Amino acid sequence: MPNEKKEPVIAPVADSGTTDQDAPFKVGEQYMVRRADNTWQSAEIIQVRKASSSEYEYYVHYKGFNRRLDEWIERDRISLSSEAIAEADIVPNPVDQIEQSDRKITRNQKRRHDEINHVQKTYAEMDPTTAALEKEHEALTKVKYIDKIQFGKYEIDAWYFSPYPDEYGKQTKLWICEYCLKYMRFEKTYRNHVLECFWKTPPGREIYRKGTISLFEVDGKDSKVYAQCLCLLAKLFLDHKTLYFDVEPFMFYVLCDVDKEGAHIVGYFSKEKESPDGNNVACILTLPPYQRKGYGKFLIAFSYELSKLESVVGSPEKPLSDLGKLSYRSYWSWVLLELMKDSTTRLSIKDLSQLSSIAHGDIVSTLQNLNMVKYWKGQHVICVTSKVVEEHLKSAEYKKPRLTVDGSFLKWSPPIRKHSLKNRKL
Ligand code: ACO
Ligand code: ZN
Repeated sequence: MPNEKKEPVIAPVADSGTTDQDAPFKVGEQYMVRRADNTWQSAEIIQVRKASSSEYEYYVHYKGFNRRLDEWIERDRISLSSEAIAEADIVPNPVDQIEQSDRKITRNQKRRHDEINHVQKTYAEMDPTTAALEKEHEALTKVKYIDKIQFGKYEIDAWYFSPYPDEYGKQTKLWICEYCLKYMRFEKTYRNHVLECFWKTPPGREIYRKGTISLFEVDGKDSKVYAQCLCLLAKLFLDHKTLYFDVEPFMFYVLCDVDKEGAHIVGYFSKEKESPDGNNVACILTLPPYQRKGYGKFLIAFSYELSKLESVVGSPEKPLSDLGKLSYRSYWSWVLLELMKDSTTRLSIKDLSQLSSIAHGDIVSTLQNLNMVKYWKGQHVICVTSKVVEEHLKSAEYKKPRLTVDGSFLKWSPPIRKHSLKNRKL
């Protein structure tokens, strides 16, 4: 059985006596730091700790980079003097690079560049409320204590802080059962658990199975502990996520790759049972060993298949992460271009929305990105020729998704709702 635990309070992480005054490098100061790829970057020291070897270790944040890249390093990667670094080895961070390369780039190009290079917005670029919330969020989650997890046959590096209960949350490595998601502090406990655990699939109902791809629908109310464990696991790879314990109002769609051992989790998305904002996805994740193989777009496509069966339009909950934006933009572009290519008549934004279940705003932003929309007499209108559509589809950027959802294998019908949905298509 997964851990039966009380809902822990999410509290600021204590410093645990690690801000040692004797450490040669100081918290809050900036230094040049050698990254794993041997390039030098300006980085801030966030925290210091004593490693078992009695050497200090430093938790650093690289200026201008996503916090996913923050890491614990040893002192030999911090430059003692700036002269020690040859000019040629310093790679300007993505923000500097773009400013130097061309000052006249368009806003669209800058957004694309920032998305692909995972450039974070600075506080100055945010509105004051967002900046204040962001500062608080960063203060509460500044250090990811759990460096890595063992998950089935994979050892996976963690990207962000996750609020596992205290005695677990301060471990550098957690051992997690890939089937029931129980988390453990020690390898020995884990090995014993694996021998005893009778789970071979997620709980809930298998609603899709084609070849080795399988998808389970898990109700957060029926499988509360499993769903909480899934959220804690997901938080290791999601920077902004607040749902960990109040899982009952959500359904979880868990994607697995099946072999003779069992159904191995690849990723999932969660979805509110009743969404007043018309969201068809709350959180979406592909576990790192499975990323960039098409599973993310498969999950996105699946979420829209469910919305189509419900006869509603849907949209992912905002804000999207950098990787979330890349994946959604790629999915939306492909779906809309395909619809426009196949259509014999001129399609409006409303038509596209009804055919795809993609929300109006997401269609407008995608078409704007493709330079296919104009603002005319107070509304957005599609402005495109079939030749332009063909050209986009031929370009390397818009390739057919590697994995597609085959509707004939989907065994699912919409739940009966208490309230009628506001986002009905018709
Ligand atoms: N760098 C650049 N591009 C990337 C990267 C990357 N690290 N990862 C994915 N992409 C691009 C791919 O090239 C692909 O585009 P293309 O087909 O046009 O080339 C697109 O993103 C999607 O690729 P998939 O293989 O389908 O997606 P993947 O399985 O990698 O999953 C996901 C994408 C779910 C966003 C994954 O990166 C992830 O889990 N990230 C961590 C959690 C996260 O950020 N989730 C989204 C939060 S927003 C929300 O939850 C609503
Ligand atoms: Zn187990």
